[in-house]
Amino acid sequence: MGLFSKTEDSKERILPKHLGIIMDGNGRWAKKRGLPRTAGHTVGAQNFRTITKYCSNIGIPFLTVYAFSTENWRRPQEEVSALMKLFKQYLEEALRDFQDENIRVRFLGDTSAFAPDLQELIARVEHDSSSKTGMVLNIAMNYGGRDEIVMAAKQIAQQVKDGVLTVDGICEETISRCLYTAGQPDPDLIIRPSGENRISNFLLWQSAYAEYIIMDVLWPDFKKSDLDNALEEFSRRSRRFGGV
Ligand code: FPP
Repeated sequence: MGLFSKTEDSKERILPKHLGIIMDGNGRWAKKRGLPRTAGHTVGAQNFRTITKYCSNIGIPFLTVYAFSTENWRRPQEEVSALMKLFKQYLEEALRDFQDENIRVRFLGDTSAFAPDLQELIARVEHDSSSKTGMVLNIAMNYGGRDEIVMAAKQIAQQVKDGVLTVDGICEETISRCLYTAGQPDPDLIIRPSGENRISNFLLWQSAYAEYIIMDVLWPDFKKSDLDNALEEFSRRSRRFGGV
């Protein structure tokens, strides 16, 4: 479908090339219903499936979702375990049922920290979907923007030490090439449901010029229509109706 899609009033809307979503508000969603936080993650994981497929169907080329940050290990053990179980379930399902989906799955973050069986699933999903030509879905797991920049700095220092790069040869592109998103366009839109006005260590380098849309809806309640509204808003901003 490319970078344009038709809206109901049949005007073309500009789609982001790379959309980032901070899937926030699972805990509050559960608390409001007197349920354990883990119930919010279960419904959040279902919604992740729905919204991911929708993004693929409408022609978003790159989608990055924030599933687990480098800071999320600090949560209670029970909650971390529940999240790991959901990741496993999703990846097993992806291997089993996703043959018809034209989605390539990549992982952003230090996945070596996960249990061996989860690491194996991650590698298999990346491998099995590598020939897909549709949307690239980046799942950020054990991801932190600062951690990623430290990783890039170490790689660059090593290249200088090895004599394959000079200090003067270091430029923005050098850093971009050392990030998990190497070769991908920078996100041009980041959506944060749940009303929080924070970046939370998400795609720090890559989001330098991204549009942010904060929405007052918790992730498990976030609907396709909420995404449509955000895309309309992005399209209006991109068209620069304010001039220039
Ligand atoms: C933030 O909400 C959400 C997370 C830390 C986990 C995100 C995970 C999922 C949506 C489910 C699994 C994903 C995959 C890829 C299968 P929060 O818990 O911080 O909510 P709160 O701010 O209301 O407490």
